[in-house]
Amino acid sequence: MSLIKSLAQRDRVFDFMVPAQSPVDVRHGPILYMEDVTVSFDGFKAINDLNLTVDDGELRCIIGPNGAGKTTMMDIITGKTRPDQGKVWFGSRHNLLTMSEPEIATLGIGRKFQKPTVFEALSVFENLELAMTADKRVLPTLIARLAAPARERIDEVLEMTGLTELRQRPAGILSHGQKQWLEIGMLLMQRPRLLLVDEPVAGMTEQEMERTAELLTGLAGKQSVVVVEHDMGFVRSIARKVTVLHQGSVLAEGSMDQVQSDPRVIEVYLGESEEAA
Ligand SMILES: Nc1ncnc2c1ncn2[C@@H]1O[C@H](COP(=O)(O)OP(=O)(O)OP(=O)(O)O)[C@@H](O)[C@H]1O
Ligand SMILES: [Mg+2]
Repeated sequence: MSLIKSLAQRDRVFDFMVPAQSPVDVRHGPILYMEDVTVSFDGFKAINDLNLTVDDGELRCIIGPNGAGKTTMMDIITGKTRPDQGKVWFGSRHNLLTMSEPEIATLGIGRKFQKPTVFEALSVFENLELAMTADKRVLPTLIARLAAPARERIDEVLEMTGLTELRQRPAGILSHGQKQWLEIGMLLMQRPRLLLVDEPVAGMTEQEMERTAELLTGLAGKQSVVVVEHDMGFVRSIARKVTVLHQGSVLAEGSMDQVQSDPRVIEVYLGESEEAA
């Protein structure tokens, strides 16, 4: 077999790693549509008649006091928590309430939890490589035989996350901020259509926050991103449209200036100023 031919066949082995063209249909409206969503925990409505839509390619910030329901909202979108009532659609084709958590992830919804969960003993590069494989158990047989498109994607993501120089270093030596970027990078390997990020800058230095702002704003247009964050300075630096959640519902929505001057929002944040600062 010629070398060229064997190389071509080798690439085919990796076809399963290239996500199928996402079938999400956004021609008739938003990428995320939530209508009258309610979920109770022991009679307490953590989400209460929530209505929220996110446009394709949008970067949306969600703010709100502790316990407002922000994380629960992400749990509902990703299928971790089932609402008692309401509708949750991904584009106009996919009813997320009929899908399992893994099915929703496969559809192109990536979620970043607050605590980074990178593999410390592996290099930055290997972490990204691992994030690309569908079946994590097959990794050892894939190392050193990565198909060209996969390598290109890793290079792209290294660039986006500013980790190119650190590609061969073990993830364990990264700073807290760099680990957060690596984890966002691991999600980006799958080219999600919608990325959910819960409190990305908690514990970051000012400089790391600025870099994170660049990373997230750089994704807008290509991916839709929903960012939950308490740090108002950070939110201001990336915000286009901001949604304020309170007691499980949308209290206000608009530009950062609009929501911050809204008397209802000011009232809700009174007494929370240390946290919101
Ligand atoms: N699995 C659960 N069982 C019982 N109560 C829950 C559960 N998950 C969330 N809650 C409650 O629902 C409410 C909303 O919680 P959630 O974590 O969504 O708030 P949040 O807006 O993310 O707050 P924070 O800013 O502190 O992260 C809280 O009162 C919380 O205690
Ligand atoms: Mg939360």
